Amino acid sequence: MAILFDAQTQIFQLHAGDSTYAMQVSPEGYLFHLYYGKHVSDSALGHLEVLGGGASFSPNPADAPRLSLDTALLEYPCGGTGDFRRPAVQVLEENGASGVQLHYVSHEILQGKPALPGLPATYLNDPAQADTLAVTLADEHLGLRVTLYYCAFAGQNAITRWAVLQNTGSQRLELRSILSACVDFPGSDFDMISLHGAWARERYVERHPLFHGGSTLQSRRGSSGHQLNPFAILCAKTATEEQGEAYGFHLVYSGNFLLDAEVSQMGGTRLSIGVNPYDFAWQLLPGENFTTPEAVLAYSGEGLGGITRTLHRLYRKNLCRGAWRDAPRPILINNWEATYFNFDADKLVAIARQAAKADIDMLVMDDGWFGKREDDQSGLGDWFVNEAKLGCPLRELVERVKAEGLRFGIWFEPEMISPDSDLFRAHPDWALHIPGQSRTLGRNQCVLNLTLPAVRAYLIEQLSAVLESTDISYVKWDFNRNLTEVFSPALPAAQGREVWHRYVLGLYEILEALNVRFPQILFESCSGGGGRFDPGMLYYMPQTWCSDNTDASERLKIQYGTSLCYPIASMGSHVAAIHQGGRQTPLSFRGGVAMAGTFGYELDLTKIPPDEILEMKQMNRNFRAWQKLTAQGDFYRLRSPFEGEECAWMFVSEDKREALVQYFRLRGTPDAWPPRLRLQGLAPDALYALEGWNRTLHGDTLMHAGLVIPNPQQDYTDYNIHLKQVDG
Ligand code: GLA
Repeated sequence: MAILFDAQTQIFQLHAGDSTYAMQVSPEGYLFHLYYGKHVSDSALGHLEVLGGGASFSPNPADAPRLSLDTALLEYPCGGTGDFRRPAVQVLEENGASGVQLHYVSHEILQGKPALPGLPATYLNDPAQADTLAVTLADEHLGLRVTLYYCAFAGQNAITRWAVLQNTGSQRLELRSILSACVDFPGSDFDMISLHGAWARERYVERHPLFHGGSTLQSRRGSSGHQLNPFAILCAKTATEEQGEAYGFHLVYSGNFLLDAEVSQMGGTRLSIGVNPYDFAWQLLPGENFTTPEAVLAYSGEGLGGITRTLHRLYRKNLCRGAWRDAPRPILINNWEATYFNFDADKLVAIARQAAKADIDMLVMDDGWFGKREDDQSGLGDWFVNEAKLGCPLRELVERVKAEGLRFGIWFEPEMISPDSDLFRAHPDWALHIPGQSRTLGRNQCVLNLTLPAVRAYLIEQLSAVLESTDISYVKWDFNRNLTEVFSPALPAAQGREVWHRYVLGLYEILEALNVRFPQILFESCSGGGGRFDPGMLYYMPQTWCSDNTDASERLKIQYGTSLCYPIASMGSHVAAIHQGGRQTPLSFRGGVAMAGTFGYELDLTKIPPDEILEMKQMNRNFRAWQKLTAQGDFYRLRSPFEGEECAWMFVSEDKREALVQYFRLRGTPDAWPPRLRLQGLAPDALYALEGWNRTLHGDTLMHAGLVIPNPQQDYTDYNIHLKQVDG
């Protein structure tokens, strides 16, 4: 049993893989946190209770002079009633009062895992994979019930949490804060690792010690954003890739998020994660429910790499869905960087013809095929094929591409509307706006108000019409600006601040409908590159375009940071031409970097010399031979591009019989010792043959003594070293 309850001590214990999470109902009915960390055997953990009474200026509940909520470790802290740290729940009554007091009511241990209505979430392939604890707390005065859900995955160090709030009273409640989870750690001796960035520089790794007050990661953009990811690690200050304790926190949500680590006066750390309370308010009428997004908690006793492998496995098997989840992904050629808006059917077919010579699987027609769209000034919303521009109907183009031996994919940016579009002329009120106030543009476009059912219906019908009109195998779903004037005249004034969250729910509703209607289509999410790379989108689309920056050396940093929490098979990465920033890198280097992802091309193949087409063909052969390993193997980071001129990582198959090591050298150093790479994750006693290196070494030798890489004297050198177990 993964979840235990001791009626005598009132202690709950969750065992997930090698981790334990424990909490206790106090005699006064508060739900106290006891422990989260490496697996422990004792269930009698009451001695870990932190009452925290007695601190001056930290009040105590009238019925419990022995304790102070301000200094106790709490599972779901409430605002306004004596805990001055960040609340998980804050509620306004009709009279304007704001104070919540939650007390234990009951609990249930459920087999399996309930779904989260309308929200993306991890799921089970077999009900025996996890159990879920549901603890119900209530504030009788408010008529508020809060059920806290804890799903403990049996074989993995992962627990997921969410909360359902229910109005059981007779007054209207206004939810001001409704986080998914809070974890109160008794110490603060942690570093925080987060992923920050900008357009073309997504998910750079940042590490800093915690400090008093708060370290806050958040989005106020309406999407998860390029700037910060809804992910953080708290780890021991000495933790490395291979060693030390680490905790990962990730929100399965694509809108405004908050992830905050607050160090308190007593030296504890409150980790809060959920929808950002910024500009948020939700009217909960009597009888209504509100479900928060799911938060994923991962524990590792073996460094940052342990968090990575737990999350990769969980997302690959329990978050991504559908036919494409485990299937080898097609090698794409996308025409964006080849042509931008300047293409017609003949040009695309010419690219497809070259692609066939390189054994590429699919041609993706990017932006510019619809409405009036010669540049980014117009046309979004008019999802009608521009046959005059293409020179033929879409069906004919698709048939011609298929005749070259390639499948066909297409680009949409459904959530947007150009002021210069037929859709806008017909429905100016469909764009998010505040009546009387001027509209803010981003890339010359506005955002559709997805809270309107008519907008959602239009998008589902219009996209379906295109997708059903011919044989389309892939959709790139783009989102190229953030939300402003976040208001919907259709909602009553009291619900004005619901639009941020309702937008995301509207998006999820559309994506769910299209997933159901087109189960055979591979969807790839995109937002000016990787501006909406989050677990919420991965539930609907198993891959996300990592970045508009396709320069391979820049990509190393982007993909290294992304790999901290996102599976390699989810990372859209292509080989591009040498025009970005003008940096010259060899084709092999560009190919090597793109192989640590979904793999494909983003260049004009009609301008590539025959010898490079042949080289691409060989790269594609290698990619296919190693694809199972890169897509489903365990991932280990060996050298960080943030620390020098090298980057290395490796993939190991689950049975450890096969591995692929990738080593990249940015600037070469003449006359230096050859690098020595200590590998990870191999079977120590097994003998591995290094393909093409005429060498056989044991796993322990490769992991402890290391593998010596020939000194790369030149800039932008890469090695792909394939290892296979041999019987020794
Ligand atoms: C975004 C995407 C690009 C491309 C363009 C098209 O920037 O990230 O890959 O699709 O839009 O406008």
